Amino acid sequence: MKLWGGRFTKPTNELVDEYGSSIGYDYKLAKFDIQGSIAHVNMLAECEIIDSEDKDQIVKGLKEVAAQIESGEAELTVANEDIHMNIEKLLIDQIGPVGGKLHTGRSRNDQVALDMRLYLREAVVTLTDLLLNTQQALLKQAKENIDTILPGYTHLQRAQPVLFAHHLMAYVFMFQRDLERLTDSYKRINRSPLGAGALAGTSFAIDRESVSERLGFDGVTENSLDSVSDRDFVVEFLSDASLIIMHLSRLSEELVQYSSAEFNFIELDDAFCTGSSMMPQKKNPDIPELVRGKTGRVFGHLTGMLTTLKGLPLAYNKDMQEDKEGMFDTVETLIGALKLFAPMIETMTVHQDVMYEAVAKDYSNATDLADYLVGKDIPFRESHAIVGQVVLYGIEHDKYLMDFTLDEFQQFSESITDDIYHALSPSAVVNARDVEGGTAKVRVEEQFMKASEMFNTSQSWIDEKQNQLKKQELDK
Ligand code: ARG
Repeated sequence: MKLWGGRFTKPTNELVDEYGSSIGYDYKLAKFDIQGSIAHVNMLAECEIIDSEDKDQIVKGLKEVAAQIESGEAELTVANEDIHMNIEKLLIDQIGPVGGKLHTGRSRNDQVALDMRLYLREAVVTLTDLLLNTQQALLKQAKENIDTILPGYTHLQRAQPVLFAHHLMAYVFMFQRDLERLTDSYKRINRSPLGAGALAGTSFAIDRESVSERLGFDGVTENSLDSVSDRDFVVEFLSDASLIIMHLSRLSEELVQYSSAEFNFIELDDAFCTGSSMMPQKKNPDIPELVRGKTGRVFGHLTGMLTTLKGLPLAYNKDMQEDKEGMFDTVETLIGALKLFAPMIETMTVHQDVMYEAVAKDYSNATDLADYLVGKDIPFRESHAIVGQVVLYGIEHDKYLMDFTLDEFQQFSESITDDIYHALSPSAVVNARDVEGGTAKVRVEEQFMKASEMFNTSQSWIDEKQNQLKKQELDK
């Protein structure tokens, strides 16, 4: 007999059970569902909607059910459809009909919205922590490479030399935006929908604020229809996650390129690479490739969720059950990727000599020759044209700018003197970019300072939220 079987004259078709059930994945909400139920039943007793002996029995029973699920001893069935009804059924089996009082003043519609929020807020804290670890690994590599120069690229053509530290710091600031998006989203996730009932609220004199406080929420949602039909927080999370994995895939692409024989700028540690079953010499950057590949499924989940919600009338619709798998998969995909990134970045070997050689053997200091002529009062457009001629001459005579004799330089401009060799040297070229946010060593060191301050702020946020969540665990 189904928990809702009263008005039915026949058992459900097995295919309907199979197709409609969500237990195959929403079992991942079990601990949050029980946490929510304990808060709810405590509130029911406090408001004298059920008596305190019943409450004690239910809380005890729920804890027992939690233990049974955790140990794998509990049987979760498709016939009981989802995690909410499976738990209620297990509770009633455990403590008898009094277990049926748990669902007073509550619907699965507000219950599932609650569980999703409890799950996601914890995931957001975990992901924030992992993002910070990744940023810290990048900063560590950057500090070790404060004097390493490599070509910076535009159009994947060598453009101007930059510090490798500068390049790595670009990702630190990218991930900072990701981190801030996550921490900002937390306040929209962390609102209690419980009390919205099926859609209209409840006729019992419940205390929504009390449940909200017990569960460590920042407050309750304002409108019951919106409360049960809102999955914006899931969309927002999937969107934040899409940006994170997009950033990871860009970094992945660079790791794949830079570790190829063609670039040979870096080498990933053996512990983070795999071999080929046929070619004995191969060492493949599987992890960055896989992260790059998994970007597709995360973007897909965002599009999927938006599409599921598009055109849905108020309030709850069964379509919304489709909100879960994409969210779980996204959380798990990102946790997996970020756990690997920090140690992979930290242990990679940087071929500073190869990077330097790449800078020495190209024309990426051409802008500096043009800037040098500007310093001699030649308008930039004119100096740009002169240097174009110089580069053409260099290509034709197989010479880089540093290989030119002074006479050769002077054929193009009388204004060039002996100090040109210093001006065109890679470190001078880098340090000339002495503008806030530029690649000059002092400016990159400023970025290190800014990053450390950001990290402190992030760490306090993480500590605060982790403590709150731990307290919640203990309270129940
Ligand atoms: N398993 C459902 C879901 O995930 C729970 C809510 C079901 N509510 C309902 N009225 N059928 O959306």
